[in-house]
Amino acid sequence: MPFLSDTLARVKPSATIAVTNMAAEMKAAGKDVIGLGAGEPDFDTPQNIKDAAKAAIDAGKTKYTAVDGIPELKKAICAKFERENGLSYQPNQITVGTGGKQTLYNALICTLNPGDEVIIPAPYWVSYPDMVLLAGGTPVTVPAGIETSFKLTPDALEAAITPRTKWFIFNSPSNPTGAGYTKDELKALTDVLMKHPHVWVMSDDMYEHLVFDDFEFFSPAQIEPGLYERTLTCNGVSKAYAMTGWRIGYAAGPVALIKAMATLQSQSTSNPCSIAQWAALEALNGPQDFLVPFREAFQRRRNLVVEMLNAAPGITCPKPEGAFYVYPDISGCIGKTSAGGTLIEDDETFAKTLLKETGVAVVFGAAFGLSPNFRVSYATSDEALKEACTRIQTFCNGLT
Ligand SMILES: Cc1ncc(COP(=O)(O)O)c(C=O)c1O
Repeated sequence: MPFLSDTLARVKPSATIAVTNMAAEMKAAGKDVIGLGAGEPDFDTPQNIKDAAKAAIDAGKTKYTAVDGIPELKKAICAKFERENGLSYQPNQITVGTGGKQTLYNALICTLNPGDEVIIPAPYWVSYPDMVLLAGGTPVTVPAGIETSFKLTPDALEAAITPRTKWFIFNSPSNPTGAGYTKDELKALTDVLMKHPHVWVMSDDMYEHLVFDDFEFFSPAQIEPGLYERTLTCNGVSKAYAMTGWRIGYAAGPVALIKAMATLQSQSTSNPCSIAQWAALEALNGPQDFLVPFREAFQRRRNLVVEMLNAAPGITCPKPEGAFYVYPDISGCIGKTSAGGTLIEDDETFAKTLLKETGVAVVFGAAFGLSPNFRVSYATSDEALKEACTRIQTFCNGLT
Protein backbone atom coordinates (compact mmCIF):
# COMPACT_ATOMS: atom_id res chain seq x y z
CA MET A 1 0.00 0.00 0.00
CA PRO A 2 1.55 3.36 -0.98
CA PHE A 3 2.10 5.73 1.94
CA LEU A 4 1.19 8.93 0.09
CA SER A 5 -2.39 9.47 -1.02
CA ASP A 6 -3.70 9.25 -4.59
CA THR A 7 -4.81 12.89 -4.19
CA LEU A 8 -1.24 14.03 -3.78
CA ALA A 9 -0.18 12.03 -6.82
CA ARG A 10 -2.47 14.21 -8.94
CA VAL A 11 -0.45 17.33 -8.13
CA LYS A 12 2.80 18.20 -9.86
CA PRO A 13 5.71 19.67 -7.94
CA SER A 14 5.96 23.38 -8.69
CA ALA A 15 7.69 23.94 -12.02
CA THR A 16 9.11 27.20 -10.71
CA ILE A 17 11.15 25.43 -8.06
CA ALA A 18 14.00 24.50 -10.41
CA VAL A 19 14.82 28.13 -11.23
CA THR A 20 14.19 29.31 -7.68
CA ASN A 21 16.52 26.66 -6.25
CA MET A 22 19.16 27.44 -8.83
CA ALA A 23 18.99 31.15 -7.97
CA ALA A 24 19.24 30.40 -4.23
CA GLU A 25 22.25 28.13 -4.77
CA MET A 26 24.00 30.77 -6.90
CA LYS A 27 23.34 33.46 -4.27
CA ALA A 28 24.63 31.21 -1.51
CA ALA A 29 27.79 30.71 -3.58
CA GLY A 30 28.30 34.48 -3.58
CA LYS A 31 27.12 35.12 -7.17
CA ASP A 32 25.46 38.40 -8.13
CA VAL A 33 21.84 37.34 -8.67
CA ILE A 34 18.89 39.67 -9.41
CA GLY A 35 15.60 37.95 -8.58
CA LEU A 36 12.59 38.94 -10.69
CA GLY A 37 10.54 35.98 -9.54
CA ALA A 38 8.84 37.06 -6.33
CA GLY A 39 5.10 37.70 -6.51
CA GLU A 40 5.00 40.29 -3.76
CA PRO A 41 5.37 44.06 -3.42
CA ASP A 42 8.78 45.20 -2.21
CA PHE A 43 7.17 47.96 -0.08
CA ASP A 44 6.78 47.70 3.68
CA THR A 45 3.30 47.34 5.22
CA PRO A 46 2.02 50.89 5.99
CA GLN A 47 2.67 52.07 9.56
CA ASN A 48 -0.98 52.55 10.57
CA ILE A 49 -1.63 48.89 9.74
CA LYS A 50 1.35 47.73 11.80
CA ASP A 51 0.19 49.94 14.67
CA ALA A 52 -3.27 48.37 14.55
CA ALA A 53 -1.68 44.94 14.91
CA LYS A 54 0.41 46.10 17.89
CA ALA A 55 -2.68 47.59 19.51
CA ALA A 56 -4.55 44.31 18.97
CA ILE A 57 -1.78 42.40 20.77
CA ASP A 58 -1.77 44.89 23.67
CA ALA A 59 -5.57 44.67 23.93
CA GLY A 60 -5.33 40.88 24.26
CA LYS A 61 -6.96 40.14 20.92
CA THR A 62 -4.85 37.04 20.75
CA LYS A 63 -7.42 34.28 21.15
CA TYR A 64 -9.48 32.16 18.76
CA THR A 65 -12.00 34.20 16.79
CA ALA A 66 -15.13 33.25 14.85
CA VAL A 67 -13.98 30.65 12.32
CA ASP A 68 -14.41 32.75 9.18
CA GLY A 69 -13.63 36.20 10.52
CA ILE A 70 -14.39 38.71 13.27
CA PRO A 71 -17.68 40.59 12.76
CA GLU A 72 -15.84 43.95 12.60
CA LEU A 73 -13.75 42.77 9.65
CA LYS A 74 -16.74 41.25 7.85
CA LYS A 75 -18.53 44.58 8.21
CA ALA A 76 -15.48 46.41 6.79
CA ILE A 77 -15.36 43.98 3.87
CA CYS A 78 -19.07 44.61 3.11
CA ALA A 79 -18.33 48.35 3.15
CA LYS A 80 -15.34 47.84 0.82
CA PHE A 81 -17.45 45.93 -1.72
CA GLU A 82 -20.16 48.60 -1.59
CA ARG A 83 -17.71 51.52 -1.83
CA GLU A 84 -15.30 50.19 -4.43
CA ASN A 85 -17.30 47.71 -6.47
CA GLY A 86 -20.93 48.74 -6.09
CA LEU A 87 -21.64 45.24 -4.74
CA SER A 88 -24.04 44.80 -1.86
CA TYR A 89 -23.27 41.95 0.57
CA GLN A 90 -24.37 41.14 4.12
CA PRO A 91 -21.84 39.89 6.72
CA ASN A 92 -23.22 36.32 6.44
CA GLN A 93 -22.13 36.38 2.78
CA ILE A 94 -18.49 37.06 3.73
CA THR A 95 -15.71 34.59 4.56
CA VAL A 96 -12.20 35.45 5.76
CA GLY A 97 -9.35 32.98 5.34
CA THR A 98 -5.61 32.60 5.71
CA GLY A 99 -4.76 34.41 2.50
CA GLY A 100 -6.72 34.62 -0.71
CA LYS A 101 -5.28 31.22 -1.49
CA GLN A 102 -7.23 29.53 1.31
CA THR A 103 -10.57 31.06 0.32
CA LEU A 104 -10.14 29.95 -3.31
CA TYR A 105 -9.10 26.47 -2.19
CA ASN A 106 -11.98 26.20 0.30
CA ALA A 107 -14.49 27.09 -2.41
CA LEU A 108 -13.12 24.44 -4.77
CA ILE A 109 -13.00 21.72 -2.09
CA CYS A 110 -16.58 22.54 -1.08
CA THR A 111 -18.01 22.34 -4.59
CA LEU A 112 -16.05 19.97 -6.84
CA ASN A 113 -16.98 16.35 -7.42
CA PRO A 114 -15.01 13.95 -9.64
CA GLY A 115 -15.54 14.89 -13.28
CA ASP A 116 -16.51 18.50 -12.54
CA GLU A 117 -14.66 20.85 -14.87
CA VAL A 118 -13.14 24.22 -14.07
CA ILE A 119 -12.31 26.60 -16.92
CA ILE A 120 -8.99 28.37 -16.41
CA PRO A 121 -7.67 30.81 -19.04
CA ALA A 122 -3.98 30.22 -19.78
CA PRO A 123 -1.55 31.63 -18.87
CA TYR A 124 -2.79 31.25 -15.31
CA TRP A 125 -1.67 31.72 -11.74
CA VAL A 126 0.25 28.49 -11.04
CA SER A 127 -1.98 27.39 -8.16
CA TYR A 128 -5.35 27.25 -9.98
CA PRO A 129 -4.95 23.92 -11.84
CA ASP A 130 -3.32 22.17 -8.90
CA MET A 131 -5.97 23.39 -6.46
CA VAL A 132 -8.65 22.05 -8.82
CA LEU A 133 -6.83 18.70 -9.00
CA LEU A 134 -6.46 18.52 -5.22
CA ALA A 135 -10.20 19.15 -4.93
CA GLY A 136 -10.87 16.23 -7.26
CA GLY A 137 -11.98 18.31 -10.25
CA THR A 138 -10.69 18.59 -13.81
CA PRO A 139 -8.92 21.78 -14.90
CA VAL A 140 -9.83 22.82 -18.45
CA THR A 141 -7.23 25.32 -19.57
CA VAL A 142 -8.11 27.58 -22.47
CA PRO A 143 -5.31 29.44 -24.28
CA ALA A 144 -5.50 33.24 -24.19
CA GLY A 145 -2.32 34.25 -25.99
CA ILE A 146 -0.47 37.36 -27.00
CA GLU A 147 -2.67 37.78 -30.12
CA THR A 148 -5.63 38.61 -27.85
CA SER A 149 -3.45 40.53 -25.36
CA PHE A 150 -3.60 37.49 -23.05
CA LYS A 151 -7.36 37.86 -22.67
CA LEU A 152 -9.93 35.11 -23.14
CA THR A 153 -12.33 35.75 -26.00
CA PRO A 154 -16.08 35.13 -25.63
CA ASP A 155 -15.90 32.50 -28.40
CA ALA A 156 -13.14 30.60 -26.61
CA LEU A 157 -15.13 30.69 -23.36
CA GLU A 158 -18.29 29.49 -25.12
CA ALA A 159 -16.39 26.63 -26.77
CA ALA A 160 -14.91 25.49 -23.45
CA ILE A 161 -18.22 25.23 -21.58
CA THR A 162 -19.69 21.72 -21.26
CA PRO A 163 -22.51 20.28 -19.14
CA ARG A 164 -19.77 19.35 -16.58
CA THR A 165 -18.43 22.90 -16.20
CA LYS A 166 -18.82 23.99 -12.59
CA TRP A 167 -16.61 27.07 -12.36
CA PHE A 168 -15.02 29.66 -14.57
CA ILE A 169 -11.99 31.20 -12.84
CA PHE A 170 -11.52 34.82 -13.84
CA ASN A 171 -8.46 36.86 -12.82
CA SER A 172 -8.10 40.50 -13.85
CA PRO A 173 -5.56 42.07 -13.67
CA SER A 174 -3.82 38.79 -14.13
CA ASN A 175 -0.91 36.97 -12.64
CA PRO A 176 1.28 36.26 -14.71
CA THR A 177 0.49 38.70 -17.56
CA GLY A 178 -0.84 41.86 -15.88
CA ALA A 179 -3.67 41.87 -18.46
CA GLY A 180 -6.82 43.63 -17.29
CA TYR A 181 -10.23 43.26 -18.96
CA THR A 182 -12.05 46.47 -19.89
CA LYS A 183 -15.71 46.86 -19.02
CA ASP A 184 -16.72 45.87 -22.58
CA GLU A 185 -14.39 42.87 -22.70
CA LEU A 186 -15.76 41.62 -19.39
CA LYS A 187 -19.37 42.25 -20.45
CA ALA A 188 -18.77 40.09 -23.54
CA LEU A 189 -17.70 37.23 -21.24
CA THR A 190 -20.57 37.70 -18.78
CA ASP A 191 -23.00 37.63 -21.74
CA VAL A 192 -21.71 34.14 -22.53
CA LEU A 193 -22.02 33.08 -18.89
CA MET A 194 -25.63 34.30 -18.76
CA LYS A 195 -26.44 31.69 -21.40
CA HIS A 196 -25.12 28.89 -19.15
CA PRO A 197 -26.84 29.08 -15.76
CA HIS A 198 -25.02 26.02 -14.38
CA VAL A 199 -21.61 27.74 -14.55
CA TRP A 200 -20.37 29.56 -11.44
CA VAL A 201 -17.85 32.40 -11.53
CA MET A 202 -14.85 32.61 -9.25
CA SER A 203 -13.51 36.11 -9.67
CA ASP A 204 -10.02 36.56 -8.27
CA ASP A 205 -9.71 40.34 -7.86
CA MET A 206 -6.43 40.23 -5.94
CA TYR A 207 -4.76 42.89 -8.12
CA GLU A 208 -7.76 45.23 -8.26
CA HIS A 209 -5.88 48.24 -6.88
CA LEU A 210 -2.80 47.82 -9.02
CA VAL A 211 -4.02 49.31 -12.31
CA PHE A 212 -2.35 51.93 -14.47
CA ASP A 213 -3.01 54.87 -16.78
CA ASP A 214 -6.76 55.33 -17.06
CA PHE A 215 -7.67 51.65 -16.73
CA GLU A 216 -10.83 51.08 -14.69
CA PHE A 217 -11.29 47.85 -12.74
CA PHE A 218 -14.58 45.91 -12.84
CA SER A 219 -15.66 42.65 -11.24
CA PRO A 220 -18.07 40.24 -13.01
CA ALA A 221 -21.04 40.52 -10.58
CA GLN A 222 -20.78 44.30 -10.85
CA ILE A 223 -20.96 44.23 -14.65
CA GLU A 224 -23.72 41.62 -14.75
CA PRO A 225 -26.00 41.59 -11.69
CA GLY A 226 -27.60 38.46 -13.15
CA LEU A 227 -24.47 36.58 -12.10
CA TYR A 228 -24.56 37.75 -8.46
CA GLU A 229 -26.18 34.53 -7.18
CA ARG A 230 -23.51 32.32 -8.74
CA THR A 231 -20.39 34.40 -8.27
CA LEU A 232 -17.75 34.16 -5.58
CA THR A 233 -15.92 37.48 -5.52
CA CYS A 234 -12.46 36.91 -4.03
CA ASN A 235 -9.97 39.46 -2.82
CA GLY A 236 -7.41 40.07 -0.09
CA VAL A 237 -5.00 42.51 1.47
CA SER A 238 -1.75 40.82 0.36
CA LYS A 239 -0.95 42.67 -2.84
CA ALA A 240 -2.62 46.09 -2.53
CA TYR A 241 -1.55 46.76 1.06
CA ALA A 242 1.87 45.06 0.92
CA MET A 243 0.68 42.47 3.46
CA THR A 244 1.67 39.14 1.88
CA GLY A 245 3.01 37.73 5.16
CA TRP A 246 -0.06 38.60 7.22
CA ARG A 247 -2.17 36.01 5.38
CA ILE A 248 -5.61 37.56 5.12
CA GLY A 249 -7.89 36.94 2.15
CA TYR A 250 -11.65 37.14 1.84
CA ALA A 251 -14.53 36.31 -0.44
CA ALA A 252 -18.20 37.17 -0.86
CA GLY A 253 -20.94 35.02 -2.31
CA PRO A 254 -24.19 33.15 -1.71
CA VAL A 255 -24.86 32.23 1.94
CA ALA A 256 -24.97 28.44 1.38
CA LEU A 257 -21.50 28.41 -0.20
CA ILE A 258 -20.05 30.75 2.44
CA LYS A 259 -21.47 28.50 5.19
CA ALA A 260 -19.97 25.39 3.61
CA MET A 261 -16.59 27.11 3.38
CA ALA A 262 -16.77 27.97 7.10
CA THR A 263 -17.55 24.33 7.95
CA LEU A 264 -14.50 23.20 5.99
CA GLN A 265 -12.30 25.85 7.59
CA SER A 266 -13.57 24.89 11.06
CA GLN A 267 -12.15 21.40 10.54
CA SER A 268 -8.86 22.49 8.99
CA THR A 269 -7.21 25.76 10.06
CA SER A 270 -10.02 27.44 12.08
CA ASN A 271 -9.81 31.23 12.13
CA PRO A 272 -7.13 33.21 10.34
CA CYS A 273 -4.64 34.90 12.72
CA SER A 274 -6.57 37.18 15.11
CA ILE A 275 -3.92 39.92 15.03
CA ALA A 276 -3.72 39.91 11.24
CA GLN A 277 -7.52 40.29 11.08
CA TRP A 278 -7.33 43.50 13.15
CA ALA A 279 -4.53 44.72 10.88
CA ALA A 280 -6.64 43.94 7.79
CA LEU A 281 -9.52 45.88 9.33
CA GLU A 282 -7.27 48.94 9.55
CA ALA A 283 -6.09 48.35 5.96
CA LEU A 284 -9.68 48.44 4.67
CA ASN A 285 -11.08 51.15 6.95
CA GLY A 286 -7.98 53.35 7.29
CA PRO A 287 -6.56 55.95 4.91
CA GLN A 288 -6.06 54.69 1.37
CA ASP A 289 -3.73 57.45 0.20
CA PHE A 290 -0.55 55.30 0.16
CA LEU A 291 -2.10 53.28 -2.67
CA VAL A 292 -1.33 56.19 -5.00
CA PRO A 293 2.48 56.17 -4.57
CA PHE A 294 2.46 52.34 -4.68
CA ARG A 295 0.61 52.49 -7.99
CA GLU A 296 2.83 55.26 -9.36
CA ALA A 297 5.98 53.30 -8.56
CA PHE A 298 4.62 50.17 -10.24
CA GLN A 299 3.50 52.11 -13.31
CA ARG A 300 6.95 53.72 -13.67
CA ARG A 301 8.62 50.32 -13.34
CA ARG A 302 6.22 48.71 -15.81
CA ASN A 303 7.08 51.39 -18.39
CA LEU A 304 10.80 50.94 -17.78
CA VAL A 305 10.70 47.15 -18.09
CA VAL A 306 8.42 47.08 -21.15
CA GLU A 307 10.64 49.58 -22.99
CA MET A 308 13.90 47.84 -22.11
CA LEU A 309 12.64 44.32 -22.88
CA ASN A 310 11.24 45.38 -26.24
CA ALA A 311 14.73 46.67 -27.08
CA ALA A 312 16.11 43.13 -26.65
CA PRO A 313 16.24 41.18 -29.93
CA GLY A 314 13.83 38.23 -30.05
CA ILE A 315 11.60 39.56 -27.25
CA THR A 316 8.11 41.07 -27.65
CA CYS A 317 6.72 42.54 -24.47
CA PRO A 318 3.11 43.78 -24.40
CA LYS A 319 2.30 46.66 -22.02
CA PRO A 320 -0.17 45.33 -19.44
CA GLU A 321 -2.91 47.24 -17.63
CA GLY A 322 -2.10 46.18 -14.09
CA ALA A 323 -0.56 43.93 -11.39
CA PHE A 324 3.26 43.96 -11.22
CA TYR A 325 4.13 41.44 -13.90
CA VAL A 326 4.99 41.40 -17.58
CA TYR A 327 4.92 38.27 -19.69
CA PRO A 328 7.15 38.76 -22.74
CA ASP A 329 7.03 36.42 -25.72
CA ILE A 330 10.42 34.95 -26.68
CA SER A 331 9.57 33.17 -29.92
CA GLY A 332 12.44 35.08 -31.55
CA CYS A 333 14.97 33.50 -29.17
CA ILE A 334 13.95 29.85 -29.54
CA GLY A 335 16.35 27.71 -31.60
CA LYS A 336 19.25 30.11 -31.05
CA THR A 337 22.43 29.45 -29.10
CA SER A 338 23.57 31.52 -26.12
CA ALA A 339 26.99 33.17 -25.83
CA GLY A 340 27.86 30.36 -23.38
CA GLY A 341 26.97 27.71 -25.99
CA THR A 342 23.53 26.50 -24.81
CA LEU A 343 20.82 25.80 -27.38
CA ILE A 344 17.63 27.64 -26.33
CA GLU A 345 15.08 24.90 -26.99
CA ASP A 346 12.20 26.29 -24.94
CA ASP A 347 11.38 28.88 -22.30
CA GLU A 348 12.65 26.69 -19.48
CA THR A 349 16.11 26.49 -21.10
CA PHE A 350 15.93 30.24 -21.73
CA ALA A 351 15.27 30.99 -18.04
CA LYS A 352 17.88 28.56 -16.75
CA THR A 353 20.54 29.76 -19.20
CA LEU A 354 19.73 33.41 -18.51
CA LEU A 355 20.23 32.74 -14.81
CA LYS A 356 23.44 30.80 -15.31
CA GLU A 357 25.03 33.27 -17.71
CA THR A 358 23.75 36.62 -16.37
CA GLY A 359 22.47 36.02 -12.83
CA VAL A 360 18.91 37.22 -13.66
CA ALA A 361 16.16 34.96 -12.27
CA VAL A 362 12.82 34.94 -14.10
CA VAL A 363 10.08 32.28 -14.16
CA PHE A 364 9.60 30.42 -17.45
CA GLY A 365 6.23 30.44 -19.18
CA ALA A 366 5.60 26.67 -19.12
CA ALA A 367 4.95 27.03 -15.38
CA PHE A 368 1.96 29.26 -16.22
CA GLY A 369 0.64 27.17 -19.09
CA LEU A 370 1.64 29.32 -22.08
CA SER A 371 4.95 29.22 -23.94
CA PRO A 372 7.40 30.46 -25.08
CA ASN A 373 7.38 33.28 -22.55
CA PHE A 374 8.78 34.25 -19.19
CA ARG A 375 7.34 36.20 -16.29
CA VAL A 376 9.05 39.20 -14.79
CA SER A 377 7.87 40.51 -11.46
CA TYR A 378 8.87 44.18 -11.40
CA ALA A 379 8.14 44.58 -7.69
CA THR A 380 11.75 45.49 -7.05
CA SER A 381 13.87 48.66 -7.16
CA ASP A 382 14.25 50.71 -10.36
CA GLU A 383 18.03 50.24 -10.18
CA ALA A 384 17.77 46.45 -9.94
CA LEU A 385 15.26 46.42 -12.82
CA LYS A 386 17.51 48.56 -15.04
CA GLU A 387 20.49 46.32 -14.35
CA ALA A 388 18.44 43.13 -14.90
CA CYS A 389 16.97 44.38 -18.19
CA THR A 390 20.40 45.49 -19.39
CA ARG A 391 21.69 41.97 -18.71
CA ILE A 392 18.69 40.46 -20.56
CA GLN A 393 19.44 42.73 -23.52
CA THR A 394 23.09 41.64 -23.51
CA PHE A 395 22.02 37.99 -23.28
CA CYS A 396 19.65 38.34 -26.25
CA ASN A 397 22.22 40.29 -28.27
CA GLY A 398 24.58 37.35 -27.72
CA LEU A 399 22.16 34.77 -29.16
CA THR A 400 23.22 33.40 -32.55
C1 LIG B 1 -3.82 35.75 -8.85
C2 LIG B 1 -3.55 35.47 -7.42
N1 LIG B 1 -4.57 35.08 -6.64
C3 LIG B 1 -4.41 34.81 -5.34
C4 LIG B 1 -3.15 34.91 -4.76
C5 LIG B 1 -3.04 34.54 -3.31
O1 LIG B 1 -2.72 35.59 -2.50
P1 LIG B 1 -2.63 35.43 -0.92
O2 LIG B 1 -2.86 34.01 -0.56
O3 LIG B 1 -1.25 35.89 -0.56
O4 LIG B 1 -3.68 36.33 -0.36
C6 LIG B 1 -2.06 35.29 -5.54
C7 LIG B 1 -0.70 35.34 -4.95
O5 LIG B 1 0.30 35.25 -5.61
C8 LIG B 1 -2.26 35.60 -6.89
O6 LIG B 1 -1.26 35.99 -7.68
